[in-house]
Amino acid sequence: TDAPLVLGIETSCDETGVGIVRGTTLLADEVASSVEEHARFGGVVPEVASRAHLEAMVPTVERACATAGVRLADLDAVAVTSGPGLAGALLVGVASAKALALGLGKPLYGVNHLAAHVAVDQLEHGPLPEPCIAMLVSGGHSSLLRVTDLTAGVDPMGATIDDAAGEAFDKVARLLGLPFPGGPYVDRAAREGTVTIDFPRGLTSRRDLERHRFDFSFSGLKTAVARWVEAKERAGEPVPVADVAASFQEAVCDVLVRKALDAATAEGVEDLLVGGGVAANSRLRAMIVERADRVGVRVRIPRPGLCTDNGAMVAALGAEMVARGRTPSALDLPADSSQPI
Ligand code: KG4
Ligand code: ZN
Repeated sequence: TDAPLVLGIETSCDETGVGIVRGTTLLADEVASSVEEHARFGGVVPEVASRAHLEAMVPTVERACATAGVRLADLDAVAVTSGPGLAGALLVGVASAKALALGLGKPLYGVNHLAAHVAVDQLEHGPLPEPCIAMLVSGGHSSLLRVTDLTAGVDPMGATIDDAAGEAFDKVARLLGLPFPGGPYVDRAAREGTVTIDFPRGLTSRRDLERHRFDFSFSGLKTAVARWVEAKERAGEPVPVADVAASFQEAVCDVLVRKALDAATAEGVEDLLVGGGVAANSRLRAMIVERADRVGVRVRIPRPGLCTDNGAMVAALGAEMVARGRTPSALDLPADSSQPI
């Protein structure tokens, strides 16, 4: 086929991701994670992540080529996350992508990590409907975006004013004595529990909605969970971990779903895409599908493995840039840790 063969590199946090796509067809998605090395610190250590990327890069590129059954020389372009993310970690990916592009004589495309989280859905559900609303919920971001042309950037409608949704999951997991990164553990614990505690829904009061209709806040919720757990401990009572997890998760999902559907309805947009690590959450997936159906909004959520950081999402956005004839990046492409969406 004529669709471009693109290799994508992702190193914005602790996953070394290398993906290969042909147009919107996924050929390889190899991820080497350094998460185990960070677990004992309870968070990602930037220096450790950078070194791990350096060690994993070449073998991961080789594995991706083997899985896809292609040679580097067959590639039409190389794409890489240029930001946002950890500066040192991004640099490893950007330098590697430049070396590949230069060595192969192929164009280089620096892509935005958040836009790539949106683009990845094309690999599973086909071309993205534009315009659409995208809700990005990860360890570093919680944003509502309006997407008219994915390759030209997206319009932010709202974002978290404090903690990201994934950050809240990770902090609450820690409070409950669950391992890092906490999101998947809270998800699992919640399945054994019942929603028994009515935790606060941030920025949903009528007054807050006037100024922060599409913004999120999760730090008040995290504090409320901490107070609740402390009170139990002070009273010498056991903490019902599964019920706290279920109640916390319900509060997060309720706010995310309400605001995402409000954004779609307000913009008169029928398609809603959910991406980022927290989109792997089982309760969020079920709740949004159910409530969207009631208001006539179509929801697209990539399978959980494509929601968390990976190289395929970068390749997917790179391939879209090639397909739409966008200008490649210069070989002095910088890594931009605070790159806006
Ligand atoms: O997109 P991602 O892999 O990396 C960033 O760009 O941040 O997102 C990682 C975040 C972590 O906070 C992790 O705890 C959360 O996504 N996460 C989940 C689940 N799986 C991953 N949160 C809730 N439920 C899950 N099943
Ligand atoms: Zn991410």
